[in-house]
Amino acid sequence: MFVDGKEMRPIWLDADQRTVKVIDQRLLPHDFIIMDLRTPDETIYAIQEMVVRGAPLIGATAAYGVYLIVVDAPDPAVPEDYLTAESERLKAARPTAVNLAWAVDRMVPKIRAAKTPEAKRAAALAAAEEIVELEADNCRRIGEHGVSLIQEIQDRKQGGPVNLLTHCNAGWLACVEYGTATAPMYVAHEQGIEIHVWVDETRPLNQGARLTAWELGKAGIPHTVVTDNAGGHLMQHGLVDLVITGTDRTTYTGDVANKIGTYLKALAAKDNDIPFYVALPSTTFDWTLADGVHDIPIEERNPDEVRYIQGSDGGTLRNVLVPPEGSPAGNYAFDVTPARLVTGFITERGICRATAADIQRLFPEK
Ligand code: MRU
Repeated sequence: MFVDGKEMRPIWLDADQRTVKVIDQRLLPHDFIIMDLRTPDETIYAIQEMVVRGAPLIGATAAYGVYLIVVDAPDPAVPEDYLTAESERLKAARPTAVNLAWAVDRMVPKIRAAKTPEAKRAAALAAAEEIVELEADNCRRIGEHGVSLIQEIQDRKQGGPVNLLTHCNAGWLACVEYGTATAPMYVAHEQGIEIHVWVDETRPLNQGARLTAWELGKAGIPHTVVTDNAGGHLMQHGLVDLVITGTDRTTYTGDVANKIGTYLKALAAKDNDIPFYVALPSTTFDWTLADGVHDIPIEERNPDEVRYIQGSDGGTLRNVLVPPEGSPAGNYAFDVTPARLVTGFITERGICRATAADIQRLFPEK
């Protein structure tokens, strides 16, 4: 995607084939800094501290992380126990987004199968790049399929923009290109369909206000940042035509784990008869879990992310304390929206209802 005329991705491998470059998403939109990752430890740090975040990008970063395990191994033969231990460490960096484990598990057997140090390095690089390109392609297709939902609403409305609402950042920063929830918005905008996006600020880390608003602004897409609690009001007053969010892990039965607060948007959408779609690549399905509410691990993060809020003060990034110094805070990073509240999924293979049978029809091989 383009940032001030320059084509960019949130992650790429430097020409030295030794350094993974990432945009530091903690600092956007006020500072634009590229961070270098050269070791598995630096990769784990970047995922845990949310330098990079968003399910597909966590998967892509993990893929390059496995490559760095090979490149950085003290013994170039990459002994079996070393590869296993380092891969497990990487997989534990964040618990909810299933793309992390998916990427690592896809890469490790390919490295194991290669016999020489050179072959292991080449296999790791090829597998990592395959994952990165797969995610970019998945998101492109999600956009092509999802735009039909926006087009239908525009045809029905006969005038005025199609009003979408999204939560957190499921844009290109969270993926490799296009985003998941934002991909249909980008395609609609390209096709000249008039849209406007309500952007939930998404406390505590404000991925909506900081990242989605930045992305949409750069693309020239009209948008308005609202507080996380505004969605219900907007829906009651006919100001939302369609909700599209991303997801970190979706069960094969259609339960959706996504950024905390997504569930409340789905409830409000149901109450107001507004379609609630979740956009995801198939890499975000967990084909082993049936009960999302009870079985998807929900990350609990440092309470200081809730207690403090970050913003720009005359060009300087500052963190300020919000509640009383002594008040404890809880920081649940995700919640689960049960399938019954989800109108449908927008995937790289098309749109389906949020039922096990419909999902299986699109992905019969799973
Ligand atoms: O904690 P984050 O910022 O990694 O959470 C990200 C989200 O919840 C996104 O909506 C999700 O990963 C989908 S990204 C296309």
